[in-house]
Amino acid sequence: MHVKGIYLLISLPLTVISYEVLEVLNRESVTLKITGRVDEEKLRAIEWSTNKTTIVEYMYVGKTVHVSTRYKSRVDFDVDTFSLRLRNLMKKDSGIYMAMKNVEGRPKETVAEYHISVLEAVDPSLTVVSNWSSSDSCSVTVNCSAGDASLISSSNSSCSLEGGRSLLSLSFNHNTVSCTHSNPVRWRQDTMELKPLCPLNKGNQNQESRAQCWVWLPIALVLSLIIHVDVWKRRE
Ligand SMILES: *[C@@H]1O[C@H](CO)[C@@H](O)[C@H](O)[C@H]1NC(C)=O
Ligand SMILES: *[C@@H]1O[C@H](CO)[C@@H](O)[C@H](O)[C@H]1NC(C)=O
Ligand SMILES: *[C@@H]1O[C@H](CO)[C@@H](O)[C@H](O)[C@H]1NC(C)=O
Ligand SMILES: *[C@@H]1O[C@H](CO)[C@@H](O)[C@H](O)[C@H]1NC(C)=O
Repeated sequence: MHVKGIYLLISLPLTVISYEVLEVLNRESVTLKITGRVDEEKLRAIEWSTNKTTIVEYMYVGKTVHVSTRYKSRVDFDVDTFSLRLRNLMKKDSGIYMAMKNVEGRPKETVAEYHISVLEAVDPSLTVVSNWSSSDSCSVTVNCSAGDASLISSSNSSCSLEGGRSLLSLSFNHNTVSCTHSNPVRWRQDTMELKPLCPLNKGNQNQESRAQCWVWLPIALVLSLIIHVDVWKRRE
């Protein structure tokens, strides 16, 4: 889990609410704690919700916990600290989570707020599409893929694709080619040796070909993200 920051919201009438931004990996768990003051003397109830849907309601007087059926199998509520543990988070769980206290004779008040974004844990994989070599030149085309996206590159040119909070990059170095997928909580790389793919090449390269990189993305992703593509040609 990555805590991206804690933010303050000031609204009128003058109340200050702080909220925390959390970035969590797919299938991970997170514990949300109460950050505001809860005076138990006149407390009636504590309620955790997301998008105006109640997740848990705890009736303090009767000490009864009511968990929404939608969340029953994957949340734990702690009756002593009022914290909420969310297990097995999925992408669709991204959103705003709030805890409210209900104190006798007062309007409901927010006592915790979290903005959660669930990031995909994807492993990059590198495969050879084609390879060709002669004594003075070598050409290798590889496919660097992660999740639904892939980058196909030949002519020894590196490229990268940025979408949302993740980066997929394909880079050629001296003797290797690597495919890297990263987001703020995870970094993974797949690497391949170039020499075995160019068995006829003697080392004196003749690399005059154009830089080429193809990006493959599912349509849904193209529509929902702002995509930024960089292509650069390696120069010695
Ligand atoms: C909350 O609403 C937003 C936008 O309507 C949606 O993208 C998100 O998945 C919802 N989150 C939950 C946990 O229902
Ligand atoms: C690249 O490799 C991935 C995983 O093997 C595959 O799903 C994808 O279709 C390939 N992309 C292209 C353009 O061949
Ligand atoms: C890519 O270029 C580098 C240096 O320019 C060279 O060492 C390497 O062998 C080349 N690889 C391929 C596959 O062309
Ligand atoms: C392509 O790569 C393989 C090793 O994966 C090698 O055995 C083969 O000779 C290469 N082909 C050419 C034309 O260089």
